[in-house]
Amino acid sequence: MAKKRSVSSGGHRRNPAESTSGRVNSASGHSKFVVFFILSSMIATVIYRFRQSSPSQHQQSYVYEQGLVTTHANYQHVLSENSKVSDNTSQRHYKYPVLGYITPWNSRGYELAKRFNSKFTHISPVWYDLKSQQTNLALEGRHNADRGWISELRKTGEALILPRVVLEASPAVLLGKEKQRNKAINLIVTECKEMGYDGIVLESWSRWAAYGVLHDPNMRNLALQFVKQLGDALHSISSEKISGQKLQLVYVIGPPSSEKLQEHDFGPKDLETLSEAVDGFSLMTYDFSNPHNPGPNAPLKWIQIVLQLLLGTSGNRGRSLPPRILLGINFYGNDFSLSRGAGGGGAIIGRDYLALLEKHRPELQWDKNSGEHFFFYTDDKDIRHAVFYPSLKSISLRLEEARSWGCGISIWEIGQGLDYFFDLL
Ligand SMILES: *[C@@H]1O[C@H](CO)[C@@H](O)[C@H](O)[C@H]1NC(C)=O
Repeated sequence: MAKKRSVSSGGHRRNPAESTSGRVNSASGHSKFVVFFILSSMIATVIYRFRQSSPSQHQQSYVYEQGLVTTHANYQHVLSENSKVSDNTSQRHYKYPVLGYITPWNSRGYELAKRFNSKFTHISPVWYDLKSQQTNLALEGRHNADRGWISELRKTGEALILPRVVLEASPAVLLGKEKQRNKAINLIVTECKEMGYDGIVLESWSRWAAYGVLHDPNMRNLALQFVKQLGDALHSISSEKISGQKLQLVYVIGPPSSEKLQEHDFGPKDLETLSEAVDGFSLMTYDFSNPHNPGPNAPLKWIQIVLQLLLGTSGNRGRSLPPRILLGINFYGNDFSLSRGAGGGGAIIGRDYLALLEKHRPELQWDKNSGEHFFFYTDDKDIRHAVFYPSLKSISLRLEEARSWGCGISIWEIGQGLDYFFDLL
């Protein structure tokens, strides 16, 4: 897949297996996508005109009232306003599902989840790995789980709590044998029951792609069947907290690497296959650029093309599908170094961004093509940098795009953003 991140702190992926998958796929994926990108932009623009977005919900947000959601952003305003939000933080401005990821290595996310609890329908702390140990399977990560925080969240809001489970286990061990598949599902379901979770977010497709098993039609089919079986197992269990509610499965998918889908791409047919078993698809529409190809994190037109690829053909039968797509929105940015061979730099989070603004007082520029703000600065060693970090305007455009499709959103990750971003949700 073209848009995998090989860096760490900001990212979804942080272990060596993860970054390998990124490198393997990125070289071939990127160039194809660029051509495809140009060809498709015109079509996407036309389609976009036919859909409308309603600005009506915006009235009561502090950030709209203050005129901060604008392409003419400047560093002074960001510095003075970023921690201000509407008095009423329980009011939701986005009507479709909103999933927020939280990572144990950034405690700010835990605090923001409590403070903006009502803005979310789903909260996903990144806690678990399902691993193979020789021929056995083990679910690791309970030590990350914070029961006190969970019970505080339960008291103040209704967001479902779905910890993320990454399937690290070798697919040869897991998918090939029915007994192992059942064991894996049993481990996950038991953990949900014991800890009182509302379900899980499963990340496995990128692993299976990295292992190369998706090229084998038989293994690819087993992979889909596994997800289906897990979804069915979770749906057979009632939530302890909410009567009438079943446990949920959210499944993480990457954006297709090109218009002509490859075996490792998760495509519209796969969406259909899993549509009953999966309650939400967390779509990783970010990391379009990387240190070797510096640029915007998630160009708006690319997002439109990806949504068109996944949802454009679904027609009438697809009415229930759009709210299950959780369009990925990044709350982190990138600081790329541009001079001399480049290839440097990587993810930054809110506090890094604010520190750069304070130090360099840059002119924020709006890139109309991608719908993102960015700025340049020169560091102490005389190396030039380009910084792309989300702004109220860039996020609001992505929310409008998702709204026009009737899609939900997923945010990676909430602790990396600025407080006033939550006023948009
Ligand atoms: C805040 O907004 C929520 C949701 O719209 C509403 O129910 C609540 O009454 C509001 N609280 C205040 C203090 O206005």
